[in-house]
Amino acid sequence: MARTILVTGGAGYIGSHTVVSLIEHGFDVVIADDLSNSSPKAVAAVAKLTGKEVTLVEVDLTEEFQVRKLFANYPIEAVVHFAGLKAVGESVEQPLRYYQVNLGSAMNVLKTMARHDVWDFVFSSSATVYGDPEVLPIPEGAATGPTNPYGRTKLMIEDICRDLAASDKRWRIGLLRYFNPVGAHPSGEIGEDPQGHPNNLVPFVMQVAVGRRDKVQVFGDDYNTADGTGVRDYIHVVDLALGHLAALDNLTAGCEEFNLGTGSGASVLEVIQATAKASGKEIPYEIVARRAGDIATSLADPSRANSQLEWRADRNLEVMIADAWRWQEKNPYGFGERPADSN
Ligand code: NAD
Ligand code: WQD
Repeated sequence: MARTILVTGGAGYIGSHTVVSLIEHGFDVVIADDLSNSSPKAVAAVAKLTGKEVTLVEVDLTEEFQVRKLFANYPIEAVVHFAGLKAVGESVEQPLRYYQVNLGSAMNVLKTMARHDVWDFVFSSSATVYGDPEVLPIPEGAATGPTNPYGRTKLMIEDICRDLAASDKRWRIGLLRYFNPVGAHPSGEIGEDPQGHPNNLVPFVMQVAVGRRDKVQVFGDDYNTADGTGVRDYIHVVDLALGHLAALDNLTAGCEEFNLGTGSGASVLEVIQATAKASGKEIPYEIVARRAGDIATSLADPSRANSQLEWRADRNLEVMIADAWRWQEKNPYGFGERPADSN
C-alpha cells in the first residue's frame, strides 16, 4: 500500500512541485491548504501533469478542530509542512500575524500528529535562520540569528521540533533549510505566482522579461562580491522537491537540520544576464540603494544532505532560468487573469 503523505501548503509554489514528485514516486497525497496565497488551479495542473486525482482539503491550520478533522478523515502516515506566511517585509509590519499563523499552524499539526500516532515530519525551514552568516559556505552547525519576525518563526518552529524529539523518541523530524528556490516544472504548467509586487529577484526579473514591469532595480552594486551585487545559492524547485522525497526516505529517530542548496552562487547581474539569454529579451535594470537587511553572500554547504539524504541539487542556473521563463511565457499572469487595467 502506498504511504499517504499530508502536504500542508501543497497548493503553493514549492508544495505543488513537491506533490508532483511525491505522486510520481508512488505516494498518495492529501493537500491541506487554505488557498490564502495559492490557487486551486495549481492543484488542477498537478493532477493534469501526473494523471492522478489530487485530494485538496481547504483547511485553515490555525484552527485546531479543522486539523483534527483532517487527521480523522485521512490515513495520514507522514507530514510535509509547507504552509505558512513567508514575506520578510510583511512580517516586520505584521509580526503577530506571522507568529500566529506560522507557529499556530505548526503546533496544531504536531499536536494532532502525536494524537494520531504519526511521527514523521518534514519542515520547510530557511537559510534565513542563519541571519548574516559568519562562515561561507554555511554548514548546519553555524550560528543562527534571524534578523526579522519571519525568520524567527522558522527558528522557533525548529526549536519546538528539537524539544519534541528530545521529549519522545518516536519523532523522526527533518528540518530542511532552503536557500533560494527558483525555477518551475519543465512543463511550464506550474510555477511561482507571487501576488502583487514580487519580493524576490527571479519572479521580478521574469515579470520584466514578459513585459509586465519596466525594469529591474538592482539593490546595491557595492557589496564585497565579484561584481558588487548580492550573491545567492539559487536552487531549482524540482531539485528542492526531490530533497523532500530524500528526506522522507531517510528520516531517522530524532530531529536533524539539512541545508538544501547547490553550494554555488550567482549574482544579481548573472541572474539578469541568464534571463536575457533564455528569453531573448532585453532586461533593463538600474542600480539603486541596498535593501535594508540584505547580506552580500549566502551559500549553502549541502554536504550533510548530499551524504545522509543521498540527494544532490544538480540543475544549474541556466536550467533554473530557462524553466522559470517557460512558465512565465506560457502564463504571463500566473494562475490569474490579466488585470483589466494592464496594457
Ligand atoms: P507559498 O506561499 O507559495 O506556499 C505556502 C502555502 O501555504 C500557500 O499555498 C498558502 O495558501 C498556504 N497557507 C498559508 N497559511 C495557511 C494556513 N493558515 N492554513 C493552510 N494553508 C496555509 O510559499 P512557498 O514559496 O511555496 O513556501 C513554502 C514554504 O517554504 C513556506 O513555509 C516558506 O516559508 C518556506 N520557504 C520558502 C522559501 C522561498 O523562497 N520560496 C525559502 C525558504 C523557505
Ligand atoms: C536575492 C538577491 C537582493 C529583488 C529571501 C528571503 C529568505 C528566503 C528567500 C524564505 C539579493 C537582490 C532582489 C530585486 C534585487 N525566503 N534583489 N532586486 O533576499 O536572498 O531571500 O527569499 O525563507 O528568507 O529573505 O532573496 O530573491 O529577495 O534577493 O537586486 O528586485 O537579489 O538584494 O541580493 P533573499 P531575494
